[in-house]
Amino acid sequence: MTIIRSHLIGTGYKLPAKILTNDDLSQMVDTNDEWISTRTGIKSRHIAAEGELTSDLSYEAALMAIQNAQIKNQEIDFIIVATVTGDHTFPATAAKLAKKLGLKPGTPAMDVNAACSGFVYASQIADNMIRLGQIKTALVIGAETLSRITDWTDRNTCVLFGDGAGAAIFQAVEGLGTKDDTGLLATKIYADGEQFDRLYSASGVSIDQKAGYIHMDGKEVFKVAVPSLVQGVEESLKIAGLSIEDVNWYVPHQANLRIIDSVAKKLNIDMEKVIVTVDHHGNTSAASIPLALAESFAAGKFKKGDVIAISAMGAGFTWGGMILRL
Ligand code: ACO
Repeated sequence: MTIIRSHLIGTGYKLPAKILTNDDLSQMVDTNDEWISTRTGIKSRHIAAEGELTSDLSYEAALMAIQNAQIKNQEIDFIIVATVTGDHTFPATAAKLAKKLGLKPGTPAMDVNAACSGFVYASQIADNMIRLGQIKTALVIGAETLSRITDWTDRNTCVLFGDGAGAAIFQAVEGLGTKDDTGLLATKIYADGEQFDRLYSASGVSIDQKAGYIHMDGKEVFKVAVPSLVQGVEESLKIAGLSIEDVNWYVPHQANLRIIDSVAKKLNIDMEKVIVTVDHHGNTSAASIPLALAESFAAGKFKKGDVIAISAMGAGFTWGGMILRL
């Protein structure tokens, strides 16, 4: 029996030019490279320039993905942007991008707010639409300018985050419906609103008309992040009918190297198979996974037939995973 699968046909990314190092941060708050490096694995992060918006980063990432996919903008029939730092309260950053990219009139455009799990959430939505035959080609973006909601006087949080955008294009291709198919083989998403106040912004349009700063219970987030990231991989592997031995690459949400190390140990996957970008990106929330994917493609790490496991966890709490065969 043939079924429709979503193939990843192109990726792209954009990082702002400005790099903020740990030494730079030590001039701003009471911290140092040794503390940040040993606790988080982060060495530097990119920071958007004044006036450089989430839509600008998304646009550049999208152009690169479109070029790599060798398609025309007009072939895209759905655009979805995962972000917690969209340009406007409304409409969606995706709608602004649809205009900037010159997508065909009527192309549906929406944002999704699932924090650091946003790209997995957005990919599941796009994948379901593709598999239902509602669309053929989807542009899925994860993009953030977290620097705008970072309290640069709070050393507990300001050392962790960065800005950037990653884009992926998924396209319908016929598969056999077996675990040997190429394309997205599984997606799985979760949330637990009980954990809402572990990681959040105290402000909001409805509360005080502000965006607010990131507040975080770091220890609690760490504790929950590890099993959630593990579950994202294990459950999506089950759906795909594969096991960890089948996985060539693991792309985790890039929050903290210690979290990534613990997850890799629990999954029993060698760190050589784990993509790590947190050292030079910091935590870019919804952008972290598509950025890591696109940067790895650009570096020639992946080859046809590779199985990539992905998992993410973030505010909400939200979490999830997906399995992709190239
Ligand atoms: N520089 C120097 N000292 C610092 C800094 C800093 N930047 N930040 C905190 N400290 C101090 C604290 O004030 C504390 O000092 P005290 O003992 O005198 O009170 C001490 O360092 C230890 O602080 P802890 O919070 O206990 O440090 P911990 O080992 O838990 O590490 C961290 C903090 C890195 C935030 C850790 O909890 C963590 O990685 N949590 C995961 C959170 C995360 O990654 N969040 C990202 C967003 S969520 C997501 O994307 C999934």
